[in-house]
Amino acid sequence: MIGQIEGVHVNWISKLFRRSDEQEYLYEEAPAVAQPARRAHIDDAEINLPRFKNMVGGIDGGHHKTDAERVRAKLRDAFTPSHPVTDVRMFAGREDLLLTLIRAIEDQRLHAVIYGDRGIGKTSMLHVLTQLAKEAQYTVRYASCGVGTEFSEIFRAVAADISLLYHEDYDPTDPAIEHGGTLADKLPEGRLSVAQMTDLLSKIHGTRILIILDEFDRADSAQFRQQVAELIKNLSDRSIAVQMVIAGVASNLTELIAHIPSIRRNIMGLPIDVMNADEIEELVKNGEWASGLKFQPKAIENIIELSNGSPYLASLLGQHAGLAATQRDAIRVNAEDIKSAVRQALDEVRLRIAPHHVALVDKAATSGSFGALSAMAARSMANAGQILEEDFDGHFDDFSEFIMPITDSANGAYCFREDGVVPYVWLRSNAPKSR
Ligand SMILES: Nc1ncnc2c1ncn2[C@@H]1O[C@H](COP(=O)(O)OP(=O)(O)OP(=O)(O)O)[C@@H](O)[C@H]1O
Ligand SMILES: [Mg+2]
Repeated sequence: MIGQIEGVHVNWISKLFRRSDEQEYLYEEAPAVAQPARRAHIDDAEINLPRFKNMVGGIDGGHHKTDAERVRAKLRDAFTPSHPVTDVRMFAGREDLLLTLIRAIEDQRLHAVIYGDRGIGKTSMLHVLTQLAKEAQYTVRYASCGVGTEFSEIFRAVAADISLLYHEDYDPTDPAIEHGGTLADKLPEGRLSVAQMTDLLSKIHGTRILIILDEFDRADSAQFRQQVAELIKNLSDRSIAVQMVIAGVASNLTELIAHIPSIRRNIMGLPIDVMNADEIEELVKNGEWASGLKFQPKAIENIIELSNGSPYLASLLGQHAGLAATQRDAIRVNAEDIKSAVRQALDEVRLRIAPHHVALVDKAATSGSFGALSAMAARSMANAGQILEEDFDGHFDDFSEFIMPITDSANGAYCFREDGVVPYVWLRSNAPKSR
């Protein structure tokens, strides 16, 4: 498949990385999807159950009768609150940030660290960066960290994804390349050291490699972080054609790369902050474009206000408001649809939170401290998930079960223990009063 990125929405994006030549370039083929040999048949007369509305693969058998039904089918791709953006045409705003990131990688040959609050758009940004870098013929490898992630495991997997074609000792006609050989074949068994990985990567030629490590905050091993820092230092010192982009939840750079100040000179730290009103509007407009819905100006205004700069909330509200409109068999989303969306979104977010925390919010509501709690949630959203002692407004003891100190915070900041509590409290404080 030719990997040209199409569409008016991405004209500015697609010019960010300079193409190294004018040749066409290839993306990896999408894996073939296994199709069932024949569709299971359920006799309508026998059962009385709710049904899926659409056939997987977009085959709807011509059953969509109204515009609203057609829109409904498209809504799941127009707003994706439970997934990062993967289609560059749906990526709203962040133009300056993306430009800075690309310039850091391309012109300054720096490594980059992207940090910000939960749900602020880090992974979406990395997906877009990946596509743009591939377009400019970088070899890009994405890995997600988790509790217990180890250096050997992650970098062996990265090496297993890079063809021996890019190893300086191999000729393109070498049989090992024809047999699908990868850099991992050159690594010894057992635990990998930073020195071994550095030596291997120093042999790269004929490409530039971007290694993306997402969810870096979840990697709890201090040794892993230290090893990544050492690798970054080595890559920089030896001008190796490999750059790292790290992303994770943090309110500042130090939190994310604590213990490794030695690499500050070699990296660019990029905070990713709440979206401004224009960016949220663009997100909604992209959703309109992809679904065929039309949001009335008042409805857009409401989403801007209610999302409070969070792309996650804007996407969640956009999706539910669109569904509410299609339930009325309409394709124009109005302010009433937004009210209904807030209720739906609130129910959805509530289900994602531990019952104990929901009970704590209920307790705050009955004990008269909900106003202070929602002010704290708003502070957290505006301040990259960080809450300072003065934000508690005298309610430190009341809310102690909700919060915990941020590890390595220079200013003794706190954060909510449970991610979902912030959007839940925020939406609840803005829900229509009839509730
Ligand atoms: N630039 C954007 N344009 C449109 N939607 C966006 C954008 N950024 C984020 N979103 C939406 O916001 C939500 C959260 O995005 P994403 O998963 O990228 O955030 P994250 O920072 O990686 O979150 P987490 O910290 O949980 O990993 C998703 O629904 C995504 O579709
Ligand atoms: Mg993410």
